[in-house]
Amino acid sequence: MKSEDQNLASFRKKLYGWYERHHRNLPWRENQDPYKIWISEIMLQQTTVQAVLPYYKEWIKLFPDVKSLSLAPLQRVLKSWQGLGYYQRAKNLHKASEIIMDKFNGRIPQDYNELKNLPGFGPYTAGAVLSFAFDKFYPVVDANIRRVSMRLMGLKGRVNLKNDKNLLNYLKPFLPQRKTALFNQVIMELGALVCRPKNPLCLLCPITEFCQAFKEGKQEVIPRPKKRNYRKIEAVIAIIKKNGKYLIQKRPPSGLLADLWKFPGGKRKAGETLKQALYREITEELSAEVKEETFLTRVYHAYTQFQVSLYAYECTIKNEPHLKKKRHRWVTLKAFHRYPFPSGSAKIIKFLEEREKAKDK
Ligand code: ADE
Repeated sequence: MKSEDQNLASFRKKLYGWYERHHRNLPWRENQDPYKIWISEIMLQQTTVQAVLPYYKEWIKLFPDVKSLSLAPLQRVLKSWQGLGYYQRAKNLHKASEIIMDKFNGRIPQDYNELKNLPGFGPYTAGAVLSFAFDKFYPVVDANIRRVSMRLMGLKGRVNLKNDKNLLNYLKPFLPQRKTALFNQVIMELGALVCRPKNPLCLLCPITEFCQAFKEGKQEVIPRPKKRNYRKIEAVIAIIKKNGKYLIQKRPPSGLLADLWKFPGGKRKAGETLKQALYREITEELSAEVKEETFLTRVYHAYTQFQVSLYAYECTIKNEPHLKKKRHRWVTLKAFHRYPFPSGSAKIIKFLEEREKAKDK
């Protein structure tokens, strides 16, 4: 019988050996710069490594440190985030960078509670920055580590964030006192590459002998998959053009996709035709009446919580629209790149750009 210590030593040795051979070289792992680690952790929430990579590289070029981020206008920051989703994350990064400049002399705090008080920092992000950047003794639980530990423990049922405390207690004895960054990274990497949500590659896993789910043959059903309940939305969009410029408006400062820009329009209500929805929205939003409309295109976009079909109509209107200076702009196609739009609207812009190009030929 092996002692607990021997078990622990063997567990770590197998894990680290595997990591050494198989880990990916990711740019935020190149050094332990706390700013870069913070940015990567926020981007990686709800978003895959593949999707994050180009955004991360561009962001670091534009905003290489806390100071440059704090000095950038919010619209510039949101524009760099366009397409990543959950835009509150970008706003929180910006706000937190201002606080770090004001209160902490531009240095990212190394104290859990100070970090947790900054906008956008929950227990995971605070622990991750402290471990990855400063090698402090914090086990962390992200989606990958959650899955790996649930399987190691043989914990049945769906992911339940209330269980995270149990998972942290379970992980703590495995965590070394020093170099915690490496340990957390190794488990995370195992989750991403081997202990995957579907089709886990148990034959390649270095620690199956420690895995309760593997012993019971339950690795495919731990955690039990989430029920997806996608909302499907249809919305109409008005493309209104005057003197070569398009009318766009800013979304309200709170709620879904807050502070991003959009074309006038909105959701179709039950019982309405698309055209009725278009006419109603234009009256509500611009106090104007549509004179004529021509269907342009339909685009589809799957956000995390809902799917939307956007029906774009080119419209002429009977009277001057009622516009508020702060919320509305007339912009040329070339100037669109300055405004952050949700991904669905960005597809419509692409359509307009391609239409222009085709006209020029
Ligand atoms: N997901 C969250 N943090 C990560 C990291 N540091 N590396 C890879 N994937 C991650």
